Amino acid sequence: MEIPFARWHAAIPLRRSRRRYNRTPLEPTQLAQLQTVCREFRPYPQARAELITEAPDEVLRGVVASYGKVKGAPALIAFIGDIDDPYVNEKIGYTGEGIILEATAMGLGTCWVGGSMFFRRGLAESIVGAGEKEKVFAVTPVGRAVKNFSLEERVMIGFGLAHRRKPLAELVTGLDEKEWPRWMKAALKAARLAPSAVNRQPWRFHVEPNGITVSVDSSLIEWGISKRLDCGIAMLHIEVDALDCGVKGKWELLEAPRVAKFTV
Ligand SMILES: Cc1cc2nc3c(=O)[nH]c(=O)nc-3n(C[C@H](O)[C@H](O)[C@H](O)COP(=O)(O)O)c2cc1C
Repeated sequence: MEIPFARWHAAIPLRRSRRRYNRTPLEPTQLAQLQTVCREFRPYPQARAELITEAPDEVLRGVVASYGKVKGAPALIAFIGDIDDPYVNEKIGYTGEGIILEATAMGLGTCWVGGSMFFRRGLAESIVGAGEKEKVFAVTPVGRAVKNFSLEERVMIGFGLAHRRKPLAELVTGLDEKEWPRWMKAALKAARLAPSAVNRQPWRFHVEPNGITVSVDSSLIEWGISKRLDCGIAMLHIEVDALDCGVKGKWELLEAPRVAKFTV
């Protein structure tokens, strides 16, 4: 499936992690649309997504209750990857974020949930029928979020802080900002809006006239979630906004601490 860049570009600033849902079941047309994007947005054979309507609250009942308890979602989407692929985390991030942006464009709430303390991985794996070499890396609830952020949502992880981003100047090295072409400016602004686990914003961007290299700030795995997964999410944002400016590029996956280079 080609990236529906205008639709996903518009969804990037609208997406926010939502953790309270009003339990309204998804309509058959919405379920069909989500199933279609899960099946068809498959840029890498080693990463896939499955819609789950069975026991979403059970899957989302994490061992640790304090961070990001999600309630009332009528469905969730599991992001499943091949454990033998060294680049599986970035592939999951890139693929999953496409599906999350499509759900956002449909007016639905989502929230990346990763790390084995925060959802029941074993249960999710048995529901999706994960293969021996497969693991559910993350899930997202999907559904109608309650209209206003609930008090609980606001208090949970410091509402403002959870959505605040570092300035681009802290994240970017290389070519002087005055020399960035239009597509690059748009792509970096979109990358900065990418969600990341505990809002850690681990992505760093090195810019040259013909491209952007994404790296991680450190290779530590914190919260049981690889920072390369966060980088995969930012990679999709970069590509969506480049396409929206009429610029096509190609990703080359790289070894740590670099993650990937986007060349136009
Ligand atoms: C890989 C990943 C895992 C996440 N895991 C959780 C989680 O377990 N629980 C939760 O409430 N939020 C989780 N989040 C959501 C982040 O806290 C959120 O994206 C970040 O604070 C930025 O806020 P925003 O998404 O509203 O822009 C996760 C995000 C990512 C990208």
